[in-house]
Amino acid sequence: MESLPRIDFVELHDLDRTPPVLRTLHTESIAFIYRLTDAAREYSVPLSLALRLGASHRIVDLCAGSGGPVPLIQRRLHREGVHTQVTLTDLVPNVRAFQRVQAANARVLPDCCSVDYESSSVDATDCALEGTRTIYGAFHHFPPALAVRMLQNAVDTRQPMVVVDTKRSFVYPLLFPFLTTLMVLISAPFQRNPLPRYLLRLVLTYLVPVLPFMMFFDSVVSFLRMYGRAELQRMVDGLSGTETFTWKIGVVPGFTGAQYLIGVPR
Ligand SMILES: C[S@@+](CC[C@H](N)C(=O)[O-])C[C@H]1O[C@@H](n2cnc3c(N)ncnc32)[C@H](O)[C@@H]1O
Repeated sequence: MESLPRIDFVELHDLDRTPPVLRTLHTESIAFIYRLTDAAREYSVPLSLALRLGASHRIVDLCAGSGGPVPLIQRRLHREGVHTQVTLTDLVPNVRAFQRVQAANARVLPDCCSVDYESSSVDATDCALEGTRTIYGAFHHFPPALAVRMLQNAVDTRQPMVVVDTKRSFVYPLLFPFLTTLMVLISAPFQRNPLPRYLLRLVLTYLVPVLPFMMFFDSVVSFLRMYGRAELQRMVDGLSGTETFTWKIGVVPGFTGAQYLIGVPR
């Protein structure tokens, strides 16, 4: 499948018409799935590699949704003796979710590791914040021209970049949408929210199953529009100033199929 063309179709939670509360409930489900699974173990590998290549330990997480996997990766790295300071950002920041993640990590991590967040909108393709930029599970949202703009922005501002998404394979669109949807169905009662949102989640999961449908649909579309390694390589080759960065493209062995693109200024 690596050689098949990428199929670009829109995800429901990306539509302008999608009510913000639905987008929030959806990205909260994604963050909850990260907590249920041990994805952070494999997802931490590319960031760890970038840090060993000299990337800054100050992390700016782009497209963080409702927190995503980076706070869990931070805990994992801390257990390995690697200390990071994380800033969560998004085009539409979910400040309440960011605050919850900040408090949760502060409870279990010492001062050497912190989480903060940017409460104003940060566009991943035009970012001015300093630090190692990470983007987990969201690079495929960007069509090639915008994906290139994001990478070029990192090169122009001389900030390291760590892109982690799923590798292209038939297995993921055929299997993962069922798993993620099942997790949405099972996890709804256990996701903590203020009471009105908690009830809304239950209604939109079991009575009018908008959230499971959204997870299934968006998962299928996501896996069909993942970038292959050859496409990532072409993007990198076409960047102006690409030779001033060390680039690495690879896949972490394991269940998640985590594919990475790392760029660190020389
Ligand atoms: C799949 S979701 C969450 C991804 C998150 N990293 C995770 O793993 O849970 C994708 C996120 O990308 C954000 N997004 C979309 N376009 C963006 C842009 N141009 N700049 C920054 N964030 C963007 C959306 O608001 C959404 O929260």
